[in-house]
Amino acid sequence: MESQKKYWNIDPASGALLQSLIHTHKPQNILEVGTSNGYSAILMGNVAKSYGGHIKTIEFFGERVQLARENIQKEELSETIEVLQGDALEILSRFLPLPEGELEGVGVFDFIFLDAAKEEHADYFKFAMQLMPLGGIIVADNTISHKNKLSEFFEKV
Ligand SMILES: C[S@@+](CC[C@H](N)C(=O)[O-])C[C@H]1O[C@@H](n2cnc3c(N)ncnc32)[C@H](O)[C@@H]1O
Repeated sequence: MESQKKYWNIDPASGALLQSLIHTHKPQNILEVGTSNGYSAILMGNVAKSYGGHIKTIEFFGERVQLARENIQKEELSETIEVLQGDALEILSRFLPLPEGELEGVGVFDFIFLDAAKEEHADYFKFAMQLMPLGGIIVADNTISHKNKLSEFFEKV
């Protein structure tokens, strides 16, 4: 896969942490906000596939969506990972309101990884809180490297 820097992929230690959390908690429905070329989705997907979990991942940049889909296919993870093309906030809003009775108290996603526009993390978090069951897990990248852009997110958390 192409360079980590060019596609802003998570570093190997963050990847290992994500894989370990997923291996331990075995979330059925994972959401990633910020696909890029699919690197982190593939890391998570390799673990999720082993127990039948699924991932939806959001990316608005067409070239990256295509590249991610190609990489996912090469890794034989097309049944596990679905790339949704579009603006994250618009796509997140499509999941609400939860269908009455069916998903209340259960949530749509039990694991959410935030790794898109840092200025929007606080808004992603607001959606995440509505889309997750009690005990769901939210992971956010760049909380140290981009902490200046994340003050609203920290406040909400
Ligand atoms: C840091 S990269 C994601 C890296 C990826 N998680 C990985 O580690 O392989 C962030 C990605 O989010 C996308 N992005 C930023 N803002 C977005 C938005 N509002 N909606 C959808 N995608 C967005 C960017 O185009 C970029 O590809």
